[in-house]
Parts: sequence; C-alpha cells; structure tokens
Amino acid sequence: MWRTKCAGLLRAIRQGGALTGTAAEQSSSKAAQACTAGAQGLHSDAASAESSQQAGRTAWSWQKKAVLGTGLAAVGGVGLALMEEEAEMGLHPPEYPWPHSGLFSAYDHAAIRRGHQVYSQVCAACHSVSQLHYRNLVGVAYTEDEAKEMAAEIEVEDGPNDEGETFTRAGKLSDPLPRPYPNEEAARYANGGAYPPDLSLITKARHDGTNYVFSLLLGYHEPPAGVSVREGLHYNPYFPGGAIAMPKMLVDEGTEYDDDSVFATESQQAKDVTTFLAWAAEPEHDERKLMGAKWIFILSVVLLTAGYYKRWKWAPLKSRKVIVDAIN
Ligand code: HEC
Repeated sequence: MWRTKCAGLLRAIRQGGALTGTAAEQSSSKAAQACTAGAQGLHSDAASAESSQQAGRTAWSWQKKAVLGTGLAAVGGVGLALMEEEAEMGLHPPEYPWPHSGLFSAYDHAAIRRGHQVYSQVCAACHSVSQLHYRNLVGVAYTEDEAKEMAAEIEVEDGPNDEGETFTRAGKLSDPLPRPYPNEEAARYANGGAYPPDLSLITKARHDGTNYVFSLLLGYHEPPAGVSVREGLHYNPYFPGGAIAMPKMLVDEGTEYDDDSVFATESQQAKDVTTFLAWAAEPEHDERKLMGAKWIFILSVVLLTAGYYKRWKWAPLKSRKVIVDAIN
C-alpha cells in the first residue's frame, strides 16, 4: 500500500523539479518524511515478521530437536534395556525344528532312548530326574526286559524286613531313577555352592525350555573381550547372567550309544538328551496330540451329520408355500 503511494509521490517529487514554493516543498518533504517513516515502519514490520518467522523457525527446530532427541533416547533406552535384559535373562535361544513340534508329530523315540543314555552316562553324575521311574521307560524307549535289566543294576535301600531292619536289594521297575546326591546340601557342597536342579521338568520350568536346554548345552565358549567370569563359573550367554556353574559337559563321543549307526557328536548328544528331557517333562505329549486329532475328526463328522440332519428335518417346513386366501 505504502509502496504505491510512495512510488507516486517520489515520482512526483522527482518530476517536481519544477515545483516551487514552500508549501509545495513542505508538502513534498512532509510526504517524503511520512513515506520514509512508512517505509521504515514497514521495514521494521518486515523485520519483525522475519524475526518472528525466524523465531518460529528456531522454535520449530528446537521442537524438532526435542522430538528427535526424545526418539533417539527412546531407541537408545530400548536398546539398552534389551541389552540389559539379554545380560540378565540370557540370550534368547533360536527356534529349532524339533521333530515333535508339528501339530500331528510325535517324539522321535529313538532319540529319547539315546537321550536316556546321554543322561545316565553324563548328566546323572550331578542331576536327578526324580519324577522318572524305570517303568516309565517301558514302551517308550526300552522294552520291558531291557528296563528290568537296567533297574536290576542299581541297589536300592528298602525295608523294614521281618526283623524290622532296612536292607538293600536290586532295583525293580517301580523304583525311581537313582539320585546322585542324598540332599540339596550335599549337591551344593560338591558343586561349589551351585545346585544342579532336578531335570524332570526343566524343559517346562524354563522359558522356551527345549530350545533353551539345547542352546545352553552347546553355548559354552570363551568369554568375549572385556568380560571376566569368576573362577568356578563358565561363560555361557544363554544362561541368565552369562556365567554358569555347570562346566561344559558334552564332547564328541562323550556317550556310548547302543545304536552304532549314530555317531555321538556333541550336538547329537545335546539334541538327544534334550528330546529325552522334553519327554520326561511331558510324557503325555504323543497321546495328547493323537487324542486331539481323533477328537477333531470325530467332532467334525458329528458336526456335519448334525448340520445335514437339521436341514433334512427342516426341509418340509422351509420349502412349504403358504398362501393366505383371505376372503373379505
Ligand atoms: C559336574 C556336574 C554336572 C553335570 C555332569 C551336569 N550338570 Fe547341569 N548343572 C550343574 C550345576 C552345578 C548347575 C547349576 C548351575 C548354576 O546354577 O549356575 C547345572 C544346571 C543345569 C541346568 C539348568 C540351567 C538353568 O537354567 O537353571 C540344565 C538344564 C542342566 N544343568 C542340564 C544338564 C545336562 C543336560 C547335563 C548332561 C548333559 C548336565 N547338566 C550335566 C552341574 C552339572
């Protein structure tokens, strides 16, 4: 607005070289002053607008920075929390394709048998499986005769006899698998204060147990640079805290399998003993899936039959034509 006004005026002043007289001069000078003031005003307006715009820009950039900072802090925080969780809870085991993990798949029973051999030749030195009795192995991993023979190899304290005294006898099918230590104190004393837990339910007692036990058994290696492990402990990233009291137990050919066709590598033994422990924790697994499949099949047949029966019963009613013949 001021621009057009002033432009006209200035033009007039410039042209008004011819203009003479104080009034004219005065008026022109006044107009020029006003104009200058206007120009300044606008200038300052523009400046203030610019500065406020700049201020706006600065504010926005601060906002942006704040948002960005918060975002980064959140990402960093989550990362740190995850790292912390990993250190505290242990590295999450990968998902392994267990033969029994399918909807309709059963345990690999040859693996249970070999796994029992790994357990009794290696793990049984420190861990019990108190829920298992010799009879549980019959029909699952061994024949009855084999299980009886195995049971007879142990000595069991029994009693009282007719004279009221305890005695030892050969094991029977009804006896539990022997425990390595009589009580927790003895177990801790022999293991530097750490307690080797009972393994009957270990795959259920730990998160993602089957994958965890397998990963744990194969997870031993040298601690990475900067990580120190207390004496008597062993570095294992899958164990919560990263340091476990159990030494690495599996080595190639550490177990003698009765099945010559399978070579007892470290990972083979880990897989077999984990399958054995998964079975020990959930012996009803195969039966459960079989029952599930049977019930789903039977109920589907029942549902189809019921649906057909309903349509059949309703057909005469549904297909009937009702004519209302109202006279008057
Ligand atoms: C020399 C004794 C010893 C032998 C042999 C041994 N362990 Fe252990 N095991 C331990 C001790 C001690 C712990 C407790 C570790 C701890 O709390 O730091 C343990 C802990 C465990 C745990 C539990 C980890 C957890 O999350 O609490 C599993 C699973 C396990 N052992 C499996 C096995 C298997 C499978 C074998 C056989 C291949 C085996 N162990 C052989 C001593 C042993």
